[in-house]
Amino acid sequence: MRKLGIGLIGTGFMGRAHALAFRNVSAAFELPFTLHLAALADANPARAQSCATAWGFERAYGDWQQLIDDPAVNLIAITTPNHLHYPMAMAAITAGKPVYCEKPLAVSLEQATAMHQAAKDAGVVTRVGYNYQHNPVMGLARQLIKNGELGEIISFQGEFSEDFMADPASPWSWRCEAAHAGGALADLGSHLLGMARYLLGDIEAVCADLQTVHRQRPATAGSPELRTIAVDDLVHALLRFTNGARGTFSSSWLKHGYKNHLSFEVSGTNGTLSFDQERLNELRLCQMGQAGFQRLLAGPDLPGYAAFSPAPGHQLGYNELKTLEVHELIMALAGQGQLGTDFGQALEVERLASAIRLAAREQRWVNLGEV
Ligand SMILES: NC(=O)c1ccc[n+]([C@@H]2O[C@H](COP(=O)([O-])OP(=O)(O)OC[C@H]3O[C@@H](n4cnc5c(N)ncnc54)[C@H](O)[C@@H]3O)[C@@H](O)[C@H]2O)c1
Repeated sequence: MRKLGIGLIGTGFMGRAHALAFRNVSAAFELPFTLHLAALADANPARAQSCATAWGFERAYGDWQQLIDDPAVNLIAITTPNHLHYPMAMAAITAGKPVYCEKPLAVSLEQATAMHQAAKDAGVVTRVGYNYQHNPVMGLARQLIKNGELGEIISFQGEFSEDFMADPASPWSWRCEAAHAGGALADLGSHLLGMARYLLGDIEAVCADLQTVHRQRPATAGSPELRTIAVDDLVHALLRFTNGARGTFSSSWLKHGYKNHLSFEVSGTNGTLSFDQERLNELRLCQMGQAGFQRLLAGPDLPGYAAFSPAPGHQLGYNELKTLEVHELIMALAGQGQLGTDFGQALEVERLASAIRLAAREQRWVNLGEV
């Protein structure tokens, strides 16, 4: 069996989630490769070294280019702030190495287009961290829609809200800079746009409104120094799908009480399907003639679930979705990939985000062909 050397850049929230997924995937699935945790890089070399030791990576680097150049590294996983995705992914592609990049793909449509083109030209496998789509119940949702259980689809109502920026005293971070692809639309909304496309297909036109509520935040926690904030705290949009369905889309990082409210209701002429990531192991379905919603609970009959548990209702968590995403990535490297968001699909999410920003700026409907 061939050995696959993993090179991971970043040791924050997502760095740890990737490390857990790369460590667990071999225990959950039979893989066509033996995974080797070859190298870990972080801007802080001491942290790179301590995380490499704790997480089981062989080497640590303070310079990410050295990780990409390391001959023991065959796959580059990027978990750094959004503005670093472009230089890191382009360097990996130049080295002919496959890339697993966190979302959103880039900070501009131009960058995302160049990344997709470069990967295509080099023929490298790419995947982007749209992990929520790997939830086994999401496969079921897509199947129910495709099989006509809801009838003809007429509407998608989606919302992704959290409250981690709801306190005006929450300090500035890279997520607050437009140049770093900050804002609720890029940070949270990108997941929901990807999900809407995964479930219902292409979107052809959007109309939108973006708002910045807290225009200043402390430079660091508790600091009297204030920084000006220009990115969106919340976004509302109307969507027109190519298949004729209409939709609403909203995202906020100010909405008290919500911790991971990636949610949608898809309704058709025969029924409604409902999901909320805060209850990620279930769908709610109501078909015509039924008194109310029935709960469809995840179990080993759904692809992916049985890798973690033979027992229904025992529940998967966020990190298992990441492991399922890494499994799909590894199968894609062996030429057997079925699922997952590649740079081409992630580019379409960036196009939608750009269309939403343009629609909000010019206060009009924007056709996707315009961006
Ligand atoms: N898929 C998801 O569910 C999900 C969830 C959260 C974040 N994300 C995405 O993951 C990415 C990282 O987010 P996070 O929350 O982990 O951020 P974070 O701030 O917790 O971690 C960022 C890491 O990047 C490192 N870093 C910064 N500059 C670097 C450089 N020049 N070289 C090497 N390392 C560098 C930092 O030291 C830190 O370890 C973002 O793109 C974000 O949108 C995805």
